[in-house]
Amino acid sequence: MSGTSEGWIDLSGKLALVTGAAAGIGRASARAIAAAGAMTVVLDRDESGAAATVDAIEASGGKAIARTLDVTDEAAWRGLGSWLEAGWGKVDVLVNSAGIARFDRVDESIAKTYREVFAVNVDGTLFGMTMALRFMRAAGKGAIVNISSTASLKGNPAMASYGASKAAVSHFTRSAALECNRAGSDIRVNAVLPGFTETAMAQAVYDQFDEKLGGRDKTLAVFASGRPAQPEEIADLVLFLASDRASFISGSTISIDRAQGA
Ligand SMILES: NC(=O)c1ccc[n+]([C@@H]2O[C@H](COP(=O)([O-])OP(=O)(O)OC[C@H]3O[C@@H](n4cnc5c(N)ncnc54)[C@H](O)[C@@H]3O)[C@@H](O)[C@H]2O)c1
Repeated sequence: MSGTSEGWIDLSGKLALVTGAAAGIGRASARAIAAAGAMTVVLDRDESGAAATVDAIEASGGKAIARTLDVTDEAAWRGLGSWLEAGWGKVDVLVNSAGIARFDRVDESIAKTYREVFAVNVDGTLFGMTMALRFMRAAGKGAIVNISSTASLKGNPAMASYGASKAAVSHFTRSAALECNRAGSDIRVNAVLPGFTETAMAQAVYDQFDEKLGGRDKTLAVFASGRPAQPEEIADLVLFLASDRASFISGSTISIDRAQGA
């Protein structure tokens, strides 16, 4: 399980925010970060899922608090900033994991799905970064981990908007990292690019493709080159990048896909 790196990775005394933390990769990341000692703010639009993540963290002896947040809502991010200012006055770590995928291709119908997908994946990540960077610049340090995707690396005829949105996330990651470096701060910004990972998002792919491709094995052969990742395997990389162990890693977009893109 993630967080067993106790002692090697120590986030005690840190305040960490994780979006999309009610499920999947976000939940696993929040659990790993909390297990490493950080006070973890579990952010999601799914209130009961976020509360369940907090319960799981507390049951393993970690510290966490849930707050409902729709990442597409810029005003809600400002409200979160004021709440953090009053409560902690800092943000040490931000993980942007909230994300959605839609099946679409470049035809007339894409306008709607493109807006939905970009609102969550791109606006949400940007709003999060701008809010957190305000605290991090004041402190001169911090770590941001954005969850991009290997879908950003190639054209994606089944999920065109999704791939493009993740390419934007990777690019904003690099730009923010450079900006922070040039300003002489110790703020690191990185992106993790998971391959196919066993979450609700993967289930949507199974629902769409299992029958079409001739069974689960076939779907996994196409999308996962074998087996899907477990969210905890992605969370281990997120945890590492969030920690001081990754002190010389910034502006990197790191695939974690077990040779899927090789
Ligand atoms: N599962 C995969 O195969 C895979 C692969 C590569 C990248 N990713 C990325 O990993 C991240 C996490 O995805 P997952 O697979 O864990 O999916 P998931 O569906 O299990 O979790 C996504 C979470 O984001 C939350 N969310 C969605 N829209 C939101 C909004 N507007 N405001 C706040 N929260 C919102 C959901 O409530 C949910 O808890 C996403 O950014 C996704 O694109 C997933």
